[in-house]
Amino acid sequence: MKIMVIGSTGRTGKHVLTQGVNRGHEITAFARRPELLADRAGLAGVHQGDAHDLEAVRRAVQGQDAVIAAVGGSRIAATLITAMHEHGVRRVVMTSSRSVPATRPRLAVSLAWLFFREAYVDLARAEGMLQVSGLDWSIARATMLNDKPPAGRVHIDFEANATGGAMQLSRADYATALLDTVEDPALIGKALGICGPR
Ligand SMILES: NC(=O)c1ccc[n+]([C@@H]2O[C@H](COP(=O)([O-])OP(=O)(O)OC[C@H]3O[C@@H](n4cnc5c(N)ncnc54)[C@H](OP(=O)(O)O)[C@@H]3O)[C@@H](O)[C@H]2O)c1
Repeated sequence: MKIMVIGSTGRTGKHVLTQGVNRGHEITAFARRPELLADRAGLAGVHQGDAHDLEAVRRAVQGQDAVIAAVGGSRIAATLITAMHEHGVRRVVMTSSRSVPATRPRLAVSLAWLFFREAYVDLARAEGMLQVSGLDWSIARATMLNDKPPAGRVHIDFEANATGGAMQLSRADYATALLDTVEDPALIGKALGICGPR
């Protein structure tokens, strides 16, 4: 697939790039600061730009089969939805957080909302925008991310509250789940909760 990756210099995004290239996808990196890309080998393209800038996103989205937004947010969702409709690109996977819909474990969720309320409200808005976008969307809600080596497995569920799985998730495993999701048409229109494996 031809996949454009937003957030490609990020800690999850960089894994999406390398794993995506290794899977044989034509990966285009979109970044505000492409000079931070550690390894451009195998990339089909690099676009410099801010994902809030509709013109920049339009240029990068043109000719792609899919977009992975390895960074979430309502302004990014807004530009993406517009640019994707204009260029007939339908498949999009966007990151979000398990804390957005979760009510349990109560203490952990309350504390997370205390500290990250603004980010979660914006992610909830981004999720809502995607859900009514008419695009082939999937939302990948991660638990707490870390930079440990990949376990090679994740726990996925479709509930508001985690039905199992570990609270910590390696960003490398999260990237694998994002690529698995973009490749799987059965996950269109689904919001996945992604945790570490037990
Ligand atoms: N961190 C967690 O524990 C956690 C938990 C649950 C879910 N998530 C989700 O996972 C995503 C990835 O997390 P992460 O920790 O891997 O992210 P990260 O390392 O902070 O990377 C974010 C990336 O997004 C880029 N970016 C931000 N705003 C942008 C914009 N307007 N235009 C273009 N690029 C932009 C940043 O680029 P610059 O270098 O230019 O800033 C950076 O490359 C988060 O966005 C969130 O949705 C995270």
